[in-house]
Amino acid sequence: PTDEYLLAIESSCDETAAAVITRDMRILSNVVSSQTDLHEKFGGVVPEIASRAHLERILPVIDDALKQAGIELQQLTAIAVATEPGLVGSLLIGLTAAKTLAMTLNLPLIAVNHIEGHLFACQMQEDRPLFPAIGLVVSGGHTNLYHCSETFEFDLIGATIDDAAGEAFDKVAKILGLSYPGGPSIQNAATHGDPRAFKFPRTFLKDPELRFSFSGLKTAVLYAAQGNPGAKQQPPPLDDQRIADLAASFQETVVDVLVGKCRQAIERYNYSTLCVGGGVAANRLLRERLAEMTEQAGIHLSVAPPDLCTDNAAMAAIAWHHLDQGRIADLDLDVTPGLVR
Ligand code: KG4
Ligand code: ZN
Repeated sequence: PTDEYLLAIESSCDETAAAVITRDMRILSNVVSSQTDLHEKFGGVVPEIASRAHLERILPVIDDALKQAGIELQQLTAIAVATEPGLVGSLLIGLTAAKTLAMTLNLPLIAVNHIEGHLFACQMQEDRPLFPAIGLVVSGGHTNLYHCSETFEFDLIGATIDDAAGEAFDKVAKILGLSYPGGPSIQNAATHGDPRAFKFPRTFLKDPELRFSFSGLKTAVLYAAQGNPGAKQQPPPLDDQRIADLAASFQETVVDVLVGKCRQAIERYNYSTLCVGGGVAANRLLRERLAEMTEQAGIHLSVAPPDLCTDNAAMAAIAWHHLDQGRIADLDLDVTPGLVR
């Protein structure tokens, strides 16, 4: 029997990605071309540069994904593409490629929500249905809590009121002179640091509402590193040990808040499963602490494997469910950028 193959395309931010996934959720290829080197000197993603890089890379990346999967265009069953949320110019490149393929190959075109993809990445490693669950998406653009239903409906139950957790990692890395993206470089620097060296604010941790705030934390790290403009005494110079201590204390704070809020959501809604996705979910300390917390609470934890946490196209395999429900897009499909990312 011939298998069915989904080609998935992702270009919402600064990763150009394509993947081939079978109907039984085997990932035959998962190609990610990262633009980190292009954005590094700016300490964040520059939208214009991202769009142009997507334009150069999208067809070679798709070609690679097909070759690595060992299949031809003619064997595809459907084309999926992330259309929201993201940078408008970036999303449009992936969408245009997807539409062109769907039209010329006469295949169903399926629109995927990038955030839902981050949560679905957890399901992809499970043998059994993962949902219903409480879902946490922690990425560069989002820190959101969701109800995830058996029928793949995702209802927002909590979010950040300012910076996303990943954004805080990126900004703090910049303050400390560490490389972009900030998550991995802070994680590395923190291994030599003392997480108790600095006491930073755990905003909303004790608040009964499910909400996050990381901008005060970022400012607290800035003042600890470079001095508070109003203070009489300036801090000592930033040497390697101080950078490591600041990184470790910052990471500890973010992880405390994220784990605390997940516990709060689980208790409030009495769920027996927690799933966590998005770039920050690749963080080792976060994964350890989530494992401890859920073990204590006696609930099932599903954290996406690290390569499915950061942006990728394989997670768009949620499109198989959309296809089963007849959710096929027309060729006039547009992108929905949403917030900044
Ligand atoms: O999901 P993602 O790849 O893109 C968005 O949808 O935003 O997330 C990127 C974010 C960046 O802010 C990056 O610093 C963060 O994920 N990140 C990490 C780690 N790896 C990536 N944060 C903490 N620890 C990590 N190991
Ligand atoms: Zn993402």
